[in-house]
Amino acid sequence: MSKLIFTCSKGYENNLENELVRNGFLSRSVFQGCIYAKSAEKAGKAAEDLCFPHFCMIDPVLIEGASVNTISREIAEKFFNINKTRKIESEWPFLILPNQSITGIGKRESAVEEQTGEYLRRIAGKIFRLAVHRLPEEQGINRGMILYFEDFDKVHLSSDFVWYGQKRVSDDPDAPSRSFMKVEEAYQAMGLHPSKNQTVCDLGAAPGGWSYSAAKKEAVVTAVDNGELKAGAKNNIRIARLAADAFSYIPDRTYDWLFCDMVEHPNMVLKLLEKWIDKKWCRYFIVNLKFGRVNPDELLEKLTSNSSYVKKRCLDLKVRHLFHDRDEITLMGRLE
Ligand SMILES: C[S@@+](CC[C@H](N)C(=O)[O-])C[C@H]1O[C@@H](n2cnc3c(N)ncnc32)[C@H](O)[C@@H]1O
Repeated sequence: MSKLIFTCSKGYENNLENELVRNGFLSRSVFQGCIYAKSAEKAGKAAEDLCFPHFCMIDPVLIEGASVNTISREIAEKFFNINKTRKIESEWPFLILPNQSITGIGKRESAVEEQTGEYLRRIAGKIFRLAVHRLPEEQGINRGMILYFEDFDKVHLSSDFVWYGQKRVSDDPDAPSRSFMKVEEAYQAMGLHPSKNQTVCDLGAAPGGWSYSAAKKEAVVTAVDNGELKAGAKNNIRIARLAADAFSYIPDRTYDWLFCDMVEHPNMVLKLLEKWIDKKWCRYFIVNLKFGRVNPDELLEKLTSNSSYVKKRCLDLKVRHLFHDRDEITLMGRLE
């Protein structure tokens, strides 16, 4: 049995809990933005590919102490003990997963982070010099130091964790919409993005955040939408706008990428994606599905079940509730 702590976007705990239960995890306590669970699999193996969590701490230990000093010393010692037999020769992430429900805990988190650093420097200076306060290079199972404050005097520490690829990304002043950040985050979660001179078809493109992002990567974009493009997407030499309906649009070539971010029924968008896959009209895709009136848990189950057409046809499919997603999920797929 593995003990696990999952974090997710605030307000999506029920979706995460349903996903965990569907995948055979035992949900024990649900907090705002966080679920404590158990898994029959060792070392959280089964937790590697899920949609709603952002992080999963594997076999965390609980540290209790009234002062910053006590907690920090204990964290440093525990971390040192856990890793005593492991060779640490490359950079490792030292991260605090923010508690989204306790007001004012941020100061405590920062103070403990600093003081723990001080102790680690004293006990294991060589290892501490390799600590970095940033996300790992790759999503999946990683190693480092992850802390989660249950309260001012209770901290969970784990050395092994899963990161699902979500990340807050910066906006661009010329981007015509905040959706720009969603697609930029999707590249990160997918580990791939359009590159120079690759072709992108963006269905439901207006006002053009996704198209603008692809154009910034020097891709050649066809933006399909009856709506107008704005800001950095308007009159962009890398973007050709086509005023058409995405469902009846028939491409005249195979695109490298299909982008699709339409406010339409998710089942209809899914059918459209299946058509694109079936006709081999794209090699990669990023598709956003808005829940609308559809039950998100049923939608996710349909997408990830073994009978899912999209899943069967993809060499790699990731379905994520991104940091920048609200009532929607993002599908990222590689077909070859
Ligand atoms: C959420 S916005 C897209 C935002 C865009 N991804 C961005 O980054 O700015 C949804 C767009 O889908 C378009 N849309 C909805 N149904 C469509 C359809 N059947 N064909 C083409 N565009 C459609 C709407 O006109 C709207 O501009």
